Amino acid sequence: MKKEEILKLLEEAIVAREGSYSPYSNFKVGAVVVDQDNNHYLGANIENASYGLSNCGERTAIFSAVSQGLKKIKMIAVVGDTTQPISPCGACRQVISEFADENTIIILGNLKNDYKIMNMGELLPYGFKL
Ligand code: THU
Repeated sequence: MKKEEILKLLEEAIVAREGSYSPYSNFKVGAVVVDQDNNHYLGANIENASYGLSNCGERTAIFSAVSQGLKKIKMIAVVGDTTQPISPCGACRQVISEFADENTIIILGNLKNDYKIMNMGELLPYGFKL
């Protein structure tokens, strides 16, 4: 992938991050999912006073995408205000893997344009599938 393309996706994830509802952690996460037809779906983390009900940015984007017709994730980019590129939580890795294969590209970024490109197999080795 070209650096230009990567930075553009990260920019979209940064825009998505503005939709975050995170009054408890004050930690905003944004994500953009690209599907098989190059449709882009944005999502951000949405928290709840009952903390355990909070939903991560990655899952918001994926659930929105699937409910609008995504069959397969071509790419997903995630950003947070972290020193290093953000590291998705275990639950999100599992949810991404439901709509991915070993080679699906996952772009992890922060607000300073640092990024790390991984594939699904690296992000969730030996993941659970039925
Ligand atoms: N969060 C995400 O949105 N994605 C992750 O992969 C890790 C954590 C959110 C959940 C919560 O709203 C906030 O970050 C702090 O944990």
